[in-house]
Amino acid sequence: MTGPRAVLIGTMGAGKTTVGRRLAERLGVDFLDSDELIEERAGKSVQDIFVEDGEATFRALERDTVAWALENHEGVLSLGGGAVLDPATQALLASHQVVFLRVGLADAVKRVGLGVGRPLLLGNIRSRVKQLLDERTPVYQGLARVTVDTDARTPADVVADVLAAIAPRGEQL
Ligand code: S3P
Repeated sequence: MTGPRAVLIGTMGAGKTTVGRRLAERLGVDFLDSDELIEERAGKSVQDIFVEDGEATFRALERDTVAWALENHEGVLSLGGGAVLDPATQALLASHQVVFLRVGLADAVKRVGLGVGRPLLLGNIRSRVKQLLDERTPVYQGLARVTVDTDARTPADVVADVLAAIAPRGEQL
């Protein structure tokens, strides 16, 4: 199968970017973050896309970008927390090695800090994170082949678990 070695999903604060970079290093492959590619393509930050063009525009860009990356990126891919809500993206993910990085409320809130650069966290950060976790956790779980807990764990520990769980290239479904 071509496409990413692993696709990391989970909410903001799950550690997708941190873990994704380290995982890619361990596997000797490139790392790609869907938000970074969207920013490159749009020529502005995710925050600015939300503010200037609206969330619907961001989601459309995100759908196209993720579809491109699933087809063309062969390293580790991490997806923005909301990318998996799109039905077309969900259908594409069915044939990929999807890894859900699970995080509970307390650790997610700690990791996002003041939520700078994360437009969906404007307002009360704790209640927004809780709402997103409640709404999305079942979606992440439904799409994942592998789930790795990240609460109170270091990125190195999480990476070790992901490495142990993902099938070597050639044995993927
Ligand atoms: C979003 C998560 C963000 C980014 C955008 C929307 C979401 O990515 O795509 O702000 O809907 O959860 P991270 O999960 O990488 O922070």
